[in-house]
Amino acid sequence: MGVKLGILGLGTVGTGTVQLLQDLVGRHPLLQEIEIYRVGVRSLSKPRAVELPEGIITTDLEAIVNDPTVDIVVEVMGGLEPARSLILKALSHGKHVVTANKAAIARFGAEIFTAANQAGVYVMLEAAVGGGIPVIQPLKQSLSVNQINAVTGIVNGTTNYILTRMQTEGSNFDDVLADAQKLGYAEADPTADVDGLDAADKIAILASLGFGGRIHLEDVYCEGIRQVSKTDIAYAEKLGFAIKLLAIAKRTFSSPSSPLSVRVHPTLVPKAHPLASINGVYNAILVEGEPIGQVMFFGPGAGAGATASAVSADILNLVATLKTSTTNPNPLLACRHQDYCEIAPIAELVTRFYARFLTKDRPGVIGKLGTCFGNFGVSLESIVQTGFQEELAEIVVVTYDVQEGNFRQALAEIRNLEAIDSIPSILRVL
Ligand code: NAP
Ligand code: HSE
Repeated sequence: MGVKLGILGLGTVGTGTVQLLQDLVGRHPLLQEIEIYRVGVRSLSKPRAVELPEGIITTDLEAIVNDPTVDIVVEVMGGLEPARSLILKALSHGKHVVTANKAAIARFGAEIFTAANQAGVYVMLEAAVGGGIPVIQPLKQSLSVNQINAVTGIVNGTTNYILTRMQTEGSNFDDVLADAQKLGYAEADPTADVDGLDAADKIAILASLGFGGRIHLEDVYCEGIRQVSKTDIAYAEKLGFAIKLLAIAKRTFSSPSSPLSVRVHPTLVPKAHPLASINGVYNAILVEGEPIGQVMFFGPGAGAGATASAVSADILNLVATLKTSTTNPNPLLACRHQDYCEIAPIAELVTRFYARFLTKDRPGVIGKLGTCFGNFGVSLESIVQTGFQEELAEIVVVTYDVQEGNFRQALAEIRNLEAIDSIPSILRVL
């Protein structure tokens, strides 16, 4: 029997999720078990980027969460109410919930998770922090044996996009914000992004997972990016810093029982720090724990496709849970592979190459190298004589993209040239 989804919302994230679930080639076979059963929206007359059979789209969201045939409710409508009430109703009817709604989770998490525990169902929220970056499941599972000391992140795509464009192009704040809205990164009310409130919601969730306790949102110190000017960005750059909106949760002392500092504010980050080079809509979350040390999660922090990836992964996890029984093992933990993948031979690889030759120092050697490469269709991006090693000339070549087999054939011919002493290095170029 298929697993029936009731999706609340068909905006940026809802549309991305439906598109992903309608295009299953090359994805996990368990996704084929899913039926998009109902999709709730505000307006039936709005044009939609996805096609769904007649009768699926409805404005009656209550009916979706009350419908006994719906197995999983996917809340991607955003806002506090009616999202909170609909999630709670879905849980009280024994439905699992997937949500991307960090604002609701950061405020009503205690109520929502208590209700889920009482009903014996799960609330999954991978998309609520870091867009497409898997960070919730790693904190809940893979890293949970560590004592976490700090979680430091760039967790808002809109503000990182704005700061990056102000830094690289000297762009105007309002113009860049308008672009972020057009690209679907910003919240319905972008003050949540710009004033750091969205990042505060997210760090409250991450802190809760990392440090194993609930967080009162009002305890999270929060400053946004409105006061960051182009002048500050330029000065910071000269001093060797990038300005980033950081969300930080860390122990105030090294003891695992010491209080937490949880805050969001623009920060001068030294350029050598891994978070300084996270640009555009990308997010990154640096987790520091004992014994693991540092782990960084990086990826697209907002947008339809990225967020759909996280939402759909949560759905897949729940489908696996619903399909697991005493006789059927969890299909995500068991190996599902039957066949071998086809692997292309290395000779078919298309890549650029770097090669260093030691040659006799005489006229015409570079020309002969060029001719041999040309005979096998290898086009050269650069060829330089870099100096001498004792009496031998050192020539370095970088090719354009070439099939590895052709490059190797050219090298075989070059090796036979009387002027060639040796080829000490052959490296592939990314
Ligand atoms: P959006 O584009 O504004 O879409 C919201 C959808 O929900 C629309 O389809 C809207 O219906 C529907 N909706 C909203 N309120 C409703 C109501 N009261 N009754 C019925 N339908 C209602 O929002 P989004 O960007 O997809 O974001 C959705 C959620 O995902 C938010 O919690 C957001 O914080 C979170 N999120 C977003 C991103 C991102 O990159 N955008 C990334 C991560 C998480 P209509 O279409 O009829 O107006
Ligand atoms: N508005 C949010 C951001 C969406 O820009 O990061 C992803 O949560």
